[in-house]
Amino acid sequence: MRQLIAGNWKMHGLSADAVALARAVRDGAGGVDADLLVCPPFLHIPAVAAALAGGPEGSTVALGAQDCHQAAQGAHTGDVSAPMLVDAGVTHVILGHSERRQNHHEIDEVVREKTEAALRCGLAPIVCVGETDAQRNAGQETEVVGWQLAGSLPQGFADPRKDGLSCAVAYEPVWAIGTGRTPTLEEVATMHAFIREELVRQFGAAGHGIRILYGGSVKPANAKELLAVPHVGGALVGGASLKAEDFLAIARAARDLGDEVRTPGPWG
Ligand code: 13P
Repeated sequence: MRQLIAGNWKMHGLSADAVALARAVRDGAGGVDADLLVCPPFLHIPAVAAALAGGPEGSTVALGAQDCHQAAQGAHTGDVSAPMLVDAGVTHVILGHSERRQNHHEIDEVVREKTEAALRCGLAPIVCVGETDAQRNAGQETEVVGWQLAGSLPQGFADPRKDGLSCAVAYEPVWAIGTGRTPTLEEVATMHAFIREELVRQFGAAGHGIRILYGGSVKPANAKELLAVPHVGGALVGGASLKAEDFLAIARAARDLGDEVRTPGPWG
């Protein structure tokens, strides 16, 4: 399996910026040996879908969203449902990002419900976990991430999928997001190995088939060393994904995961 390099554009750019960025990523994606995903703001999704569809042959960049509601429809002012995303051509959705957990008070139970909603309609969720600075300083980082994994990932999360899309977990230490600070490679290795253990504990052998992305201040200068860490299945990139050349430079640092991530088969 290849590494997944995902760009979380957060709440940046107007539609013309999103289209230009999507086109630049699409046009530069040809020789990249990684799975690429861009996650624009909701409002730009149709324009980005159209821009990605017009690419040269062999350039496949997947389209993701940054959140979805847990209900398929209903009286939820301002929200967007998972089926609406599928209808717009979206295949992946980031869920439980720390900015959602903090700013929108999303607890693990809500993240799990949203993940279930995504799985129900065939979206591949990327579920984010990660500790705050205070939690790491108190030595609680694995405990916190362990609880987040147990609370946020529903049954069936690791089931092999016929459509070839795979679910992912993203480890994003909150203190590394947008700060330019990254954990040491040893800290990344320790946490990713812990997450792999937890996934296998929760889901059995299927837990080996889940990519574990690293996110938090990934940039071209540190991508190669971060992506080389065992059990790092890709990157979830914020700021550096807003510049196509930086995002593509990160993607060019990706490696084949070989036996590290094994999709169990045959399909059920
Ligand atoms: P930065 O890459 O800007 O630190 O953001 C990381 C992130 O939150 C991706 O979801």
